[in-house]
Amino acid sequence: MPELTEKNLLKLKETFISQLKGIKKEEIETLETRYFGRKGEIRKLYQKLSSLSLEKKKKYGEMINLLSKELESLLNQKKIEFSYDQATKQTYDEQLLESSLPGTNFFLGHIHPLQQVLDEIISVFRNLGFKVELGPEIELEDYNFTKLNIPENHPARDMQDTLYLDMPDTDKGKIVLRTHTSPTQIRTMLSQKPPIKAIMPGRVYRRDNLDASHQFNFHQVEGLLVDKNVRLSDLKGVLNYFVKSIFGDVILKDSQESNETVSRFRQSYFPFTEPSLEMDMKCFICKGTGCGVCKNTGFIELLGCGMVHPEVLKNVNLAPEVYTGFAFGIGVERVAMLKYRIDDMRLFYTNDIRFLKQF
Ligand code: DAH
Repeated sequence: MPELTEKNLLKLKETFISQLKGIKKEEIETLETRYFGRKGEIRKLYQKLSSLSLEKKKKYGEMINLLSKELESLLNQKKIEFSYDQATKQTYDEQLLESSLPGTNFFLGHIHPLQQVLDEIISVFRNLGFKVELGPEIELEDYNFTKLNIPENHPARDMQDTLYLDMPDTDKGKIVLRTHTSPTQIRTMLSQKPPIKAIMPGRVYRRDNLDASHQFNFHQVEGLLVDKNVRLSDLKGVLNYFVKSIFGDVILKDSQESNETVSRFRQSYFPFTEPSLEMDMKCFICKGTGCGVCKNTGFIELLGCGMVHPEVLKNVNLAPEVYTGFAFGIGVERVAMLKYRIDDMRLFYTNDIRFLKQF
């Protein structure tokens, strides 16, 4: 047995490789024993360590470990090649090129269900000539509340619901994370002259505890149309078109063009609209006849809307005697949950691929 030197270790490796190269299947076991057996080459190398100095023991010990691992992995690869041969009577390389084998499945990424619904909503309103306007998520309290006619003592301003930013007040007052997209109405009316016809999608924040229907962070699409002679019937027309476009296939017997009733409007209250309404859409389960989902009313609550409050118009320097307008606020999560019949909002945010793959 030759001495323990780097050169000899390398030589051993080369010999192993050349023996492995031409090997037949039935010879592989013999080769394995020759190197890895109880009296094999590797074991012999380890035995030689005992007579060496501590320093050399360490050095060569590591080298033998490495060599052993390397040879083992080459041997295993050869075994795999043989097992392929056996299964298909083809060489390993041919096997890799076998075009009739099923391919590897790669999952294509796709658009998140919430974004899909948002895109759909935006496209419906763009078809009606609405422009898209964006506003900041970090917003002035003044725009989020005051200019929207939400008085100082209104519960919506409560620290419970609103996330105030821990930073010094600006010359325009306190800063909040916007609790709704409505402040973008203010920005739009301050920066443009009527006619204004815009939707304002975006993320909003509230101090809520998480459950199946609450998030501290969700999405809305605000709508605003301001011009001369805008009437409540215009609002209803636009929103009915929206409902038919998004839900037509589930709540209508026929197509989007159908004259069937799809909604009803109930009186409500928002500080920034007068009158304020809530829109319910026909129940997609029972199609209006009454069932458990709609609590036998035939309708499901969908969104808030109304005619822009004269005080709000004044706050953005528009004369209420000249201009009127309507506004609405759509919850994107709510629409997506209704459209896809999802009963837990948290599913949208947990990135569970089993859920997301369905859309
Ligand atoms: N901003 C309201 C909210 O977050 C939703 C809303 C209701 C928006 C009525 C509107 C509206 O523009 O007219 O709950």
